[in-house]
Amino acid sequence: MTNPLSVSRDTFNDVMVPNYAPSAVIPVKGEGSRVWDQQGKEYIDFAGGIAVNCLGHCHPALVTALTEQGQKLWHLSNVMTNEPALRLASKLVDATFADKVYFANSGAEANEAALKLARRHALEKHGEHKNQIIAFNQGFHGRTFFTVSVGGQAIYSDGFGPKPGAIDHINYNDIEAFKALISDNTCAVMMEPLQGEGGIIKAEPEFLRQVRALCDQHNALLIFDEVQTGMGRTGELYAYMGTDVVPDILTTAKALGGGFPIAAMLTTDEIAVSLKIGSHGSTYGGNPLACAIGEAVMDVVNQESVLAGVKAKHELIKNGLNAINAKYNVFECVRGEGLLIGAVMNQDYQGKARDFMVAAVEQGLMCLIAGANVVRFTPSLVIPDEDIALGLERFEAAVAAVVNAS
Ligand SMILES: Cc1ncc(COP(=O)(O)O)c(C=O)c1O
Repeated sequence: MTNPLSVSRDTFNDVMVPNYAPSAVIPVKGEGSRVWDQQGKEYIDFAGGIAVNCLGHCHPALVTALTEQGQKLWHLSNVMTNEPALRLASKLVDATFADKVYFANSGAEANEAALKLARRHALEKHGEHKNQIIAFNQGFHGRTFFTVSVGGQAIYSDGFGPKPGAIDHINYNDIEAFKALISDNTCAVMMEPLQGEGGIIKAEPEFLRQVRALCDQHNALLIFDEVQTGMGRTGELYAYMGTDVVPDILTTAKALGGGFPIAAMLTTDEIAVSLKIGSHGSTYGGNPLACAIGEAVMDVVNQESVLAGVKAKHELIKNGLNAINAKYNVFECVRGEGLLIGAVMNQDYQGKARDFMVAAVEQGLMCLIAGANVVRFTPSLVIPDEDIALGLERFEAAVAAVVNAS
């Protein structure tokens, strides 16, 4: 029997299902963009809990929201509505194209709701034949069986038996393939406006415009999965705001709770009516504690100064990475928007992104990968410039270590 007072990384192997391979260190405390592990070693956090901790760790506004609401009311279920949910939904509606909000607990659940809504809406309005979902290779939408099947990486959806049907995948940014596939049988197109897990790849503006126009022509709904790009990550409140395309359904999670689990699906009045009473639901979705924190996140992030700061910090990190590359020649390019940045391995380092991430931890820096060839950086949207400088210094040391070892 494990002594609960002395858990270590070995305890993971003893008591946890082996679907993750966490790093050797166990963080125990965080403040802003710094984290400390069990041994007291300090890390600069360029990972942000996979694009979640948009205000860093233990931001005072979020701690206040958590403790104030935590002393009032945590949970009711959707048998009763609650004030924080109504306030957060009102703010999301005011700030976006949407008229209606459905709350969930994770990105996958928000996407599951979006896909079910699209299918139900098409069935009610047009009939059963209109059920095709078009999605994109390398796209990622979550790990429920519907969302993993719509996601464009078979490695995540194979091996679990028969998949939900009528889902087709094509290459991202391939408008000819899209034109050839879409028809009056298409019920929805699901896409990330900038693929995150797939390698930090932006949709071309012209591709987006044509996708929108063809969806309109064929009465298909356009679903933007903004689970990773949303809530300020790209320097816009939502990434669609930096394009000239507006989706019919948008999903948001990750940064929406700044580290507390919450997600939302946003849509229009006309589409929302298809989720009638009892047609879909969740016990926890929209609980007062999560929504109070989501509201506090949104109050901070949705300010011109914070969103402009994201764009300025993008330049700092991109320039820093390019300067490192000028010395060590390991990247083909640095790409992305706002604080969703990818450093793409060049020919000599194909498949080695993970080596850089592991070396970074050694040097006291947390970062991520997006596939085997991209090192991904998704720090807090308010990371201080001095932490960016120190993080880049540590990343340079990690790059030097990988280069010298190869
Ligand atoms: C674009 C996108 N959609 C959906 C998800 C799934 O979100 P969750 O892990 O909260 O279910 C992710 C997670 O990485 C994501 O990046």
